[in-house]
Amino acid sequence: MTWHAIIVAGGSGSRSRGKKQWMPLGGRPVLDWSVSAFAGAAQIVVVVPADDVVQATQRYGEQATIVAGGTDRAGSVINGLRALAADERDLVLIHDAARPLLKSRHINALLHSLETRRAAILALPITDSLKSGAEVVTGAPSRDGLWRAQTPQAFRFGDIVRAYEIWSGGPATDEATVAAAAGIEVALVEGDVRLHKLTYPVDFSLLEALMDKPAK
Ligand code: CTP
Ligand code: MG
Repeated sequence: MTWHAIIVAGGSGSRSRGKKQWMPLGGRPVLDWSVSAFAGAAQIVVVVPADDVVQATQRYGEQATIVAGGTDRAGSVINGLRALAADERDLVLIHDAARPLLKSRHINALLHSLETRRAAILALPITDSLKSGAEVVTGAPSRDGLWRAQTPQAFRFGDIVRAYEIWSGGPATDEATVAAAAGIEVALVEGDVRLHKLTYPVDFSLLEALMDKPAK
């Protein structure tokens, strides 16, 4: 199976107080980790803010196709899909640069799932108790059957392109939402705490602590 990767790194990092994709983690820029992890892909597309295209091309131009992002994550994904030279049936793994501790075992788990499934994502079961409400608790939804979606998220190229073409649900925070709305069944594959997303400054310390720990 031919597979490709799109790394979305087109955000501005408002909650991390700066573009986290360029901040150091374990001695390398955050974005380096994902580009390295996808070394086995037929094509890697890296989506960065328009102002960073030159910098990214200097750093990754030999390994990857660099394109400018959109105003939201979904816009960046669409720009990435447009830059991909893929066949309809090829697989595409779409990944947040903000989840830098990606390993080949995560990629292989998704590729294995796609041997029998139409689409698949990495996800972890919710472990906290859930509450609804604004200032006070008004309900406690069951967490049974609820998952936190991570990335990569894996699809057939033709499927995910068509799913975005017909999507009308407003800003989508992930591809699985768009695919499911198009009637594509998305399999859940066990994710990894190491794929925690860098969102706030403290997340850098969390990931540094997780970096050298064994897988389980
Ligand atoms: N992303 C993107 N294009 C955008 C917005 C986000 O490619 N217009 C990417 C980010 O670079 C990141 C991933 O989507 O790798 C997840 O987004 P998030 O964690 O929200 O990153 P930022 O949007 O950069 O951060 P913030 O929301 O705090 O500004
Ligand atoms: Mg964001």
